[in-house]
Amino acid sequence: MVKHLIKKHLKVKSIVFSIVCLLNLSFNAQLGLAAEAAKLSAQATEGEKLFKANCTSCHAMDIKQVGPALQGVHTRRSEEWLVKWIRNNEKLRASGDKDAIAVFNENNKVAMNLFENLSEDQVKSIVTYFKEWTAPVKAKPADGETAPKANFYSETTLYILGFLMVILLVVLLILRRTKNSLKQSLKEIEGEVKEIAEPSAFQEKLAYYKKRTNPTIFKLGVGIIILLLLASYGFYFGVTEVGVQQGYRPEQPIKYSHKIHAGELQIDCKYCHSTAEKSKQASVPSVNTCMNCHKAVQLRDRYEGEISPEIKKIYAAMDYNAEDQTYGNNPKPIRWIRIHNLPDHAFFNHSMHVKGAGVTCQTCHGPIQTMEVVEQYSTLQMAWCINCHKERKIDVENNPYYEKLHAKIKQEKDNKSSTYSKYFTKDGKIDISPAQNGALECSKCHY
Ligand code: HEC
Ligand code: HEC
Ligand code: HEC
Ligand code: HEC
Ligand code: HEC
Ligand code: HEC
Repeated sequence: MVKHLIKKHLKVKSIVFSIVCLLNLSFNAQLGLAAEAAKLSAQATEGEKLFKANCTSCHAMDIKQVGPALQGVHTRRSEEWLVKWIRNNEKLRASGDKDAIAVFNENNKVAMNLFENLSEDQVKSIVTYFKEWTAPVKAKPADGETAPKANFYSETTLYILGFLMVILLVVLLILRRTKNSLKQSLKEIEGEVKEIAEPSAFQEKLAYYKKRTNPTIFKLGVGIIILLLLASYGFYFGVTEVGVQQGYRPEQPIKYSHKIHAGELQIDCKYCHSTAEKSKQASVPSVNTCMNCHKAVQLRDRYEGEISPEIKKIYAAMDYNAEDQTYGNNPKPIRWIRIHNLPDHAFFNHSMHVKGAGVTCQTCHGPIQTMEVVEQYSTLQMAWCINCHKERKIDVENNPYYEKLHAKIKQEKDNKSSTYSKYFTKDGKIDISPAQNGALECSKCHY
């Protein structure tokens, strides 16, 4: 009977052990993949820095800007050619190099800067960066609007695997112990028992409670403890990981660029996101707004007399015929992919922050005016909101929005028993954070 038990036990143990091994394998694979996806060689990292400092005003890797897209340029040209071109393209053209002259002509004879200040090694490191560059992983939402699925090969998966491994290792340990005690009792039965290891204080305690409680209740208790551990991990995981889309950067249906419009052309954010000051939503502009300029701006000079293919998409959305300047009656609004998105239970109001509190767009959205493609800059997690509400100060003095609050604080300045008097610093200045003004109350942000 006991022998049978031991055999069965060994089977379970080996199964659990194999699972741990499998998990470990995929854990390692994850680690490897994560490293592979992220790392450039030291030389390429150096090159990336130089590229960003000197070249991104005219070049991007994946799209044509002032200069051509540089993705795969190392396959079109030799390294030697690239070094010569980058350091002094004028000299290379003057030497009669056919490729150099051709690329110059293809780009409307826009001259690229000379970079003789960069050493040959520095330029080579830029070329190494071209070689190692890979397109950023783009999230592909299934239908225009929904958020992306988390990538399987992510840090999150790594944590889950690690966690599962720890749990199974604990199970293995427990199995080992029961096996030993089974063996022990086998020996006892067979009368071979000689000495039994002295149990530790902890084991004695455990045995004591085990004896005193009903075995079912004991098992239930252990089960509940394990469940609680799992649940709190799940909760932590849910709060910190699920739904966080920081860095989300979907490709939009039109290659609209904030870098061109808000950066180079310096169009005010509110020209397009006109509701940000007035209402809860900042809202994305309608195609009409684009037409104010793009009826005229067609960039034909860049596309051999044709209208830019991207601007044609604007016309298609308006059902506009550029040749006879008429509108049809079949407009199809552009389906921009939404990037920032709070869950339904959270409430956020733009006008309150932009107008009321004077927070700049960039504080929350990052340097949008430099983004070719918009990406989510902040986590948008609750902790992010709360932290700012604790750190920022409200300018009650110069903001008509806080007129009443300001009057109240001034009135109660010398009344030490009033909470308002606490809003004064030692040198008599008003110092109040949104948090102190009630911006940490759950109901302010949750419906
Ligand atoms: C002022 C804008 C400008 C800057 C800055 C600039 N480039 Fe260029 N680049 C161009 C243009 C325009 C072309 C296309 C050729 C022409 O018209 O001269 C080009 C062409 C190239 C080419 C050739 C592409 C091909 O298809 O053969 C390479 C390589 C290149 N640039 C690399 C660089 C690097 C590396 C830097 C930074 C060190 C840089 N460029 C900075 C404008 C620029
Ligand atoms: C010429 C019009 C225009 C201007 C000017 C402009 N935007 Fe936009 N913005 C758009 C369009 C169109 C989209 C939707 C497509 C996209 O995401 O690129 C957008 C998207 C955004 C988004 C992402 C919206 C989402 O889906 O979550 C943010 C944030 C944003 N803009 C902020 C700004 C800021 C900040 C400025 C000023 C520095 C600015 N925009 C200037 C037209 C404009
Ligand atoms: C205030 C004027 C203005 C408004 C409004 C405007 N644009 Fe532009 N846009 C321009 C100019 C000027 C250029 C050319 C910039 C350059 O030199 O590359 C341009 C370039 C572009 C390009 C690049 C085309 C190409 O082939 O290189 C796209 C795409 C574009 N705009 C889309 C839009 C969309 C979509 C909107 C509306 C959300 C919009 N624009 C609103 C002025 C405007
Ligand atoms: C205090 C932080 C904060 C500031 C300041 C801020 N935004 Fe936002 N923005 C957000 C959050 C949070 C969302 C997501 C809102 C949601 O999902 O309901 C968002 C969403 C957006 C969107 C997507 C459409 C929408 O309204 O949900 C656009 C466009 C946008 N912001 C543009 C702007 C512009 C332009 C400014 C400056 C005038 C600005 N934002 C200032 C936090 C901010
Ligand atoms: C960069 C700083 C900053 C961030 C980030 C920020 N806020 Fe605020 N928030 C403020 C300031 C400043 C005020 C104005 C103080 C006030 O009205 O009490 C404010 C006020 C509020 C209020 C009004 C509170 C009241 O007393 O009526 C709400 C609601 C609010 N924020 C929600 C949010 C939410 C939700 C987020 C995150 C998605 C967020 N905020 C992120 C700075 C921020
Ligand atoms: C300043 C605004 C703000 C305040 C105050 C606030 N929350 Fe939140 N809360 C948020 C935002 C924004 C989210 C969505 C976060 C996300 O999507 O990751 C959120 C999410 C949550 C969630 C879901 C878990 C999650 O991260 O998705 C819970 C539960 C929650 N809040 C409870 C509370 C409770 C309880 C309070 C009061 C003690 C409170 N919140 C106060 C802004 C706030």
